[in-house]
Amino acid sequence: MTGVEPPLALLAELTHRCPLRCPYCSNPLEMDARADEMDTETWKRVLSEAKALGAMQVHFSGGEPTTRPDLGELVSHATSLGLYSNLITAAVALTDAKLTELKEAGLAHVQISFQGTEPDIADRISGFDGAFVRKREAAERVIAHRLALTLNAVINRHNVEQLPVFFEMAAAMKARRLEVAHVQYYGWGLKNRAALIPTQAQVQETTRLVEQAREDYAGQLVIDYVVPDYYSRRPKSCMNGWARRFFNITPAGKVLPCHAAESIPHLNFPTVHQASLRDIWHNDPAFNAYRGTDWMPETCQSCDNKKIDWAGCRCQAMALTGDAANMDPVCEKSPFKDLVLDLAEQEAARETPPDFIYRESPR
Ligand code: FES
Repeated sequence: MTGVEPPLALLAELTHRCPLRCPYCSNPLEMDARADEMDTETWKRVLSEAKALGAMQVHFSGGEPTTRPDLGELVSHATSLGLYSNLITAAVALTDAKLTELKEAGLAHVQISFQGTEPDIADRISGFDGAFVRKREAAERVIAHRLALTLNAVINRHNVEQLPVFFEMAAAMKARRLEVAHVQYYGWGLKNRAALIPTQAQVQETTRLVEQAREDYAGQLVIDYVVPDYYSRRPKSCMNGWARRFFNITPAGKVLPCHAAESIPHLNFPTVHQASLRDIWHNDPAFNAYRGTDWMPETCQSCDNKKIDWAGCRCQAMALTGDAANMDPVCEKSPFKDLVLDLAEQEAARETPPDFIYRESPR
């Protein structure tokens, strides 16, 4: 395909192993085993190819990326290439020694997820006793090491009432940025949707609180906001458009336009062992399948927003309508919109939600 812009960032999923068991985990339901993880030299080659392709940032993620003993070496390699490195971490094992090593390697930024503002709820959602206290201590260490910190507040029906405390907590921890991200319902999140989804009224209140907090904390804390778009009039611009700005690489080396792309069964995604990233980014049929606007259905073609939301999320269209080429069913113009809304409202209205189905770490 001609006129393809270079990617901005690579999400490097170094491993699917993780001490946490969050029921909304963005990893696929079928995770890569430890034995299938790529070795250090292959990851270095991949980072070099990403830089040569035009990427400017690498987000080291997982699973939990600090479980890889070569994380420092990979950050160092990214730094030598001129890539901006961000660590996305559960942080329950983020020691002083590890932070010293990563900072010396050139790490620029750390993002820590919080499942609540106090241990009871946070530990229950993450499925890890003591997670909250460990994360809070790790956040203090990140600031002590003078690294930029983002807190990621993952919002669902169990912690939605804690949002005002999340603002206070992020400011007190001296985070530069707080991402208030409602759970996205793919993979594990979809499996646990009835246990997690808040009501429309709760989401509206979240939106109001975020808008107020942006004024109250202006100049102190940048607040990003991701809604569960089942309740929105228009879909989100997922990944800023399919294969437009971002791509993922799985622990075993599969190259994907988004973390959930493997849920689209008719697409075959290549691996870094089969082709160069340049070739994959520009020419792979799965990357070109939903790139740009030519593939869009008629309602999206004639929509003024088509180059703003890029027809929303392909994985959501797949999950909720059975066809990834349908318009995102959360859009008010979709014939599926009422079904999606009814489903969400019925699940959110349950007085007693089902138990979590926790993800388990692969061996
Ligand atoms: Fe795959 Fe939105 S998560 S396109």
